[in-house]
Amino acid sequence: MSEVKKIAVIAGDGIGPEVVAEAEKVLKRTEELFGFKFELEHGLFGGIAIDERGTPLPQDTLEMCRNADAVLLGAVGGPKWDNNSKELRPETGLLGIRKALGLFSNIRPAVVFDCLKDASTLKPEVLEGTDLIVVRELTGGIYFGEKFRREGPFGEEAVDTCVYNVTEIERIVRQAFEVAQKRSKRLASVDKANVLETSRLWRETVNRIAPEYADVEVEHVLVDNCAMQLLRRPSSFDVIVTENMFGDILSDEAAMLTGSIGMLSSASLGEGSFGLYEPVHGSAPDIAGQGISNPIATILSVALMFRLTFGYEEAATAIETAVKNVLDAGHRTGDIAVDKSKAIGTTAMGDLIVAAITR
Ligand code: NAI
Ligand code: MG
Repeated sequence: MSEVKKIAVIAGDGIGPEVVAEAEKVLKRTEELFGFKFELEHGLFGGIAIDERGTPLPQDTLEMCRNADAVLLGAVGGPKWDNNSKELRPETGLLGIRKALGLFSNIRPAVVFDCLKDASTLKPEVLEGTDLIVVRELTGGIYFGEKFRREGPFGEEAVDTCVYNVTEIERIVRQAFEVAQKRSKRLASVDKANVLETSRLWRETVNRIAPEYADVEVEHVLVDNCAMQLLRRPSSFDVIVTENMFGDILSDEAAMLTGSIGMLSSASLGEGSFGLYEPVHGSAPDIAGQGISNPIATILSVALMFRLTFGYEEAATAIETAVKNVLDAGHRTGDIAVDKSKAIGTTAMGDLIVAAITR
């Protein structure tokens, strides 16, 4: 394999640069082991870009991302910029980059590592074997519909509208089918088709294209039932696809099954193989600069990048196995350690994982 893959790296603020540095070590190690070639380019983004360039998303950073095969993002934000005007806030850069890159799908795996079951609030026997992915529509639905206030017969009224067109539904559902095909071939489509018209169109669309993915078994689940089943039988789910607001809520619920935010990776995808990969957590200003943050979420985001953008399945699994082996051996950063006095730092955790990657 000699094809060069361009990766745009935007580390951002707070612990972003610390955790991204460990992910870069993983990239380097897989080049040696698997013969990949990565061309890394670094750009300013978020608070640090506001300080140095007067905008959270400089044009050259956006161009760099557009020209890349994939983007690796750390995290942005911090108290220093919290009182800035909207255009000068790091989060505005985050929304801006997703929109500018046409990323309409957010993919969040929730994997329960056996040895971390004690870190969750749920019973270990309920969590046993949980390994699911939530595919959330990211650019449509009620968050983007028309909103307004008006005077009604009983006083002031607020209106939010939920609109989905068939094209928006079809592209996200197809992506979920494709993700399911690469896994255990089960797809739960979550809607509220007993009440909502957008959900009825959603369900019709899923049923219409399902025959094209005949190897995938489809289950329709109403969102309120799904919220319950995620706590009752999380291991029975594989891929869950749903619209924007349902996905926002269910992906946070699923995340909590795994215990720590420092473990969770995510991908944002558009058409084609291009994707933006980032940990679910933020910039953790409370621990930034201390070298104690957990780099696993960002390292697992690299595994997702390999699987979903590059098709490097073997290397993706090798990274995930390395993480599992390091955890099984008892190594913990502070956020996942029961005995905090034995916790190791960011670089130590990164080095252990790098050393554990094998072919
Ligand atoms: P956060 O995720 O940064 O931190 C929440 C808690 O989890 C903190 O106690 C933090 O120390 C801990 N934590 C997070 N990641 C960790 C890791 N890798 N290892 C160990 N501990 C970790 O969320 P918070 O505190 O609500 O937000 C902090 C800043 O991050 C804010 O400015 C917020 O806007 C921004 N943010 C950015 C996101 C992004 O860049 N995608 C996402 C969420 C928040
Ligand atoms: Mg949320």
